[in-house]
Amino acid sequence: MADPVHALSRALKAAIVAAFGDEHAATDPSLRRSNHADYQANAAMALGKRLGKPPREVAAAIVAALDVSGICRKVEIAGPGFVNLTLDDAYLARELADTAQGGRLGIAPAARPETVVVDYSGPNAAKEMHVGHLRSTIIGDAIARVLEALGHRVIRQNHLGDWGTPFGMLIEHMLDLGEDAAAKELSVGDLNAFYKQARAKFDGDPAFAERSRLRVVRLQGGDEPTLALWRRLVRESTRYFEAVYRRLGVTLTEADFAGESFYNPMLPDVIAELSGKGLARESEGALCVFPAGFTGKGDEPLPLIVRKQDGGYGYPTTDLAAVRHRLRTLGAERLVYVVGATQSQHLAMVFATAREAGWLAPPARAEHVAFGSVLGADKKMFKTRSGDSVKLSDLLDEAVERASKVVREKNPELDAAAADAVARAVGVGAVKYADLSSDRIKDYVFDWDRMLAFEGNTAPYLMYAHARIRSIFRKAGVASPRGAGVALGEPAERALALELLRFGAVLEDVAATLEPHRLCGYLFELAGSFTTFYERCPVLRADSEEVRRSRLALCDLTAEVLAKGLGLLGIEAPERM
Ligand code: ARG
Repeated sequence: MADPVHALSRALKAAIVAAFGDEHAATDPSLRRSNHADYQANAAMALGKRLGKPPREVAAAIVAALDVSGICRKVEIAGPGFVNLTLDDAYLARELADTAQGGRLGIAPAARPETVVVDYSGPNAAKEMHVGHLRSTIIGDAIARVLEALGHRVIRQNHLGDWGTPFGMLIEHMLDLGEDAAAKELSVGDLNAFYKQARAKFDGDPAFAERSRLRVVRLQGGDEPTLALWRRLVRESTRYFEAVYRRLGVTLTEADFAGESFYNPMLPDVIAELSGKGLARESEGALCVFPAGFTGKGDEPLPLIVRKQDGGYGYPTTDLAAVRHRLRTLGAERLVYVVGATQSQHLAMVFATAREAGWLAPPARAEHVAFGSVLGADKKMFKTRSGDSVKLSDLLDEAVERASKVVREKNPELDAAAADAVARAVGVGAVKYADLSSDRIKDYVFDWDRMLAFEGNTAPYLMYAHARIRSIFRKAGVASPRGAGVALGEPAERALALELLRFGAVLEDVAATLEPHRLCGYLFELAGSFTTFYERCPVLRADSEEVRRSRLALCDLTAEVLAKGLGLLGIEAPERM
């Protein structure tokens, strides 16, 4: 592992155990960057309190037992009991060379690669994707990419809402419009209008409502002409979703669609299994499971309805079938659901039922990657002025248009084709990064000016930092000295090097927590360390050829890490901006 923090942590833990015994094996060495050395370990404070000893004495005992030969060149006790650690230059240079080697950038394949299902996007057929679907799509894609980069086998699953009672009314509306006209409307993404018209007729026209109900019965009964209409409806809307994915630069493809209807044939068996295990019972005419630990008002057990009174199956049944399929048939060990926080209880009940049924058992686990809402400037739900879901293709159009202005202002010399390409990358990148960079569980405010700013923790800032480094090489007409040795004299060089070495560990952290904002925060800090380095350390006009090569190698590695990091977030890093 390239990150020195790992090696230092291990050595410090061993020293703590050697000095104070096994019962302190779990002590956090509490390593931080330091102004006086490369790192400081603060463990002696907490340990001193626990042992009732002065922290300086504790620090001295740790240092006496500490073996960091080959890693550190200096170990000192400072202040009330900080252990200051300065890395050995040769060690650092070696780790950096290792990081740069073969373009791995310090990304180590997972020791135990897993099969991970990532359930994300999940829009509903014949309905506009709302911002929640946008968030799921962006966050899920970043998570899938990071897990894959670490060597896990990722199975993307797009749990499309393509079944259920609304399809009766949607099919009838399709027939009213004429099949081809309806198909056209859907494929260009006029989903809001289509759904609303159908809904209005359903609510206002009893004859239409009746036809719709009959249509649902035929659909569920497997009536072939009805199924053909349904298929067309679904196909046209998935075509629109695919177009949005392409524009967004999202890795989801047609092969990843496993909508609710996919599970239809499995539902009777799922029910039979739950009943057979004594988990499902009749309640008010419906068949329900009551997973332990979920209660409603007045402590009554909460039901998860697996078969409705009318004999139909709903969203919970489908999700139960999906869990079972993913574990049993796809062989997943980790199930990741990137779904809004509003569905927390639903998913928790599905997971609990899957555990009670014995489908979900360690080491397999299921995780809900929940996220908050997107708010408008007024701090209310992000909507169009008329109160509709924002149409995603309009949103992306606006992003690119706004980015185009910003990009032209920043660099009027870019030719038109390059400027267009950069504007596309910046516009889409800004929208994605704004979403990914905030702690996902919190709501965030959608703010065009902030996400498109070239300052702060934004996509344009990082993309520009990357392009600026590339331009150093272009202007000087030098190739990247990939693999050149580095010599770290200046503090700013060291700080940049230490930052570069963290990349692999940051990705592991993202894979463990499923929190992409940690990667954003890292890239932002890396760009900051680079700026400081570039201000303080002349690169092309360095004092010696050796220093120049070393600094160019640091520049190159920084650009590589920025581009790779952005890439894992699903954001392009143009060579020039
Ligand atoms: N279609 C659902 C919705 O719009 C999201 C699906 C999430 N995934 C799942 N396995 N339930 O709310």
